[in-house]
Amino acid sequence: MNAPVIVIFGITGDLSKRKLLPALYHLLAQDMLPEETKIVGISRHALDAGELLNSVELCVLEKDNVCDPVGLGRVRNSLQSLQLDPENADDFHKLKELLDSFDGDQPARRLMYMSIPPSAYPPIISNLANAGLNDDRTSLLLEKPFGYDLESAQNLIDLVDTHFQEEHIYRIDHYLDKETAQNLLAFRLHNPIFATIWNAGHIKQVYIRAIEKIGVEGRASFYEQTGALRDFVQSHLIQLLSITMMDIPTDMSSQAIHTSKENFMEQLEPASPGSAVRAQYNGYKDEVNNPGSFVETYARLHLKHTAERWQGTEIILETGKGLDDKRTEVIVEFKEPGEELGNKLTFYIQPDEGIGLDLVVKEPGYENSLGQAALEFDYQSRFSDNQHIDAYERVLLDAVRGDQSLFASKREVLASWHVLDQLMHAWLKDGEGLKHYDLGANTDAIS
Ligand code: BG6
Repeated sequence: MNAPVIVIFGITGDLSKRKLLPALYHLLAQDMLPEETKIVGISRHALDAGELLNSVELCVLEKDNVCDPVGLGRVRNSLQSLQLDPENADDFHKLKELLDSFDGDQPARRLMYMSIPPSAYPPIISNLANAGLNDDRTSLLLEKPFGYDLESAQNLIDLVDTHFQEEHIYRIDHYLDKETAQNLLAFRLHNPIFATIWNAGHIKQVYIRAIEKIGVEGRASFYEQTGALRDFVQSHLIQLLSITMMDIPTDMSSQAIHTSKENFMEQLEPASPGSAVRAQYNGYKDEVNNPGSFVETYARLHLKHTAERWQGTEIILETGKGLDDKRTEVIVEFKEPGEELGNKLTFYIQPDEGIGLDLVVKEPGYENSLGQAALEFDYQSRFSDNQHIDAYERVLLDAVRGDQSLFASKREVLASWHVLDQLMHAWLKDGEGLKHYDLGANTDAIS
């Protein structure tokens, strides 16, 4: 692999310190990226690279308990910073000069990573193009959310389309890169016993929840513009739902996977305010310093799918911050007419990755009473020797390799905004119906 050049806009941001730079550290330390890889950190202000490296070291230590000095040394050697004003076209010519100076015999692939809010994209994208940084060797990586609603997403797509070809655009949803999210598709493809019952005739409910203990963690202005619906549902949850319920792709090419997801999402009925719950944790308003804020930190939606295959299956999506647990799971509940007990298939996406299948069994004894028993498989004990790849490592590596399978297509982005648009605009009007919960609450407390 030729050494790529990775340019990160928003290098001092939370995402870059907590996820991107540690991911690059792992990729460099494990020789998944060549040592000659260049990382250019872009910031509006003069940058202290030493401080950045310290935060990488802390993040790696927190996660792995050990930070390999060789790996950290490689990040240090690869990383350089550039002060740039997004509105200043000349600064982008300087960026181009810097990137051109890295070229050896082979022109390096260039990745422009937008680790910034979508409102900051337009001048950067136009100025990259003005400076000629939109050629065939340049890819654009866009962090979610892609816009703020259907209309702004369409505008953003139009702007990006004017300057970049679709094959060079990577719309990131790091939940697609989580090991067990990928396993969901593998499971559906390679366990044919489930294939014939994967429809409304047998599946009563698909329930996907991603809850977190953390609050907004200093990202007040980001979260005030985002809220749970845009932050999680529009992207992570609708993507997980598609992988769970879409038709099996005709083949495993990126194009076929996207076509299946697009067809699935486009047949979801728009969410209506009457079938959704929103709530905010107590203390949020003080945290974001906005006494009038009615931004939701929790959302639960009931959706319907119009395809014949899914007529009658309930779909529930739930997410929230400041709750009692950090957990993402996909629960597929099978029908058991008239009975309380039944079969349930759970994909544990995180933290303890695995799959569980609840069965109905006869309880021991003279009575014919029934009970529930679980078959459980957990990744850690089954594959303890295998290397566990962080989602952002996969995001970066796939983009470097030019594989778009685990990124969102523009039709997917528009379809998911379409599902939420009516609900979101209703919620934006006022705080009617907004519930409140205490930090550390269980979701049952938010009815
Ligand atoms: C991000 C959201 O996409 O995902 C954050 O913007 C959230 O609000 C984060 O905390 C959770 O990611 P993970 O991988 O830690 O579950």
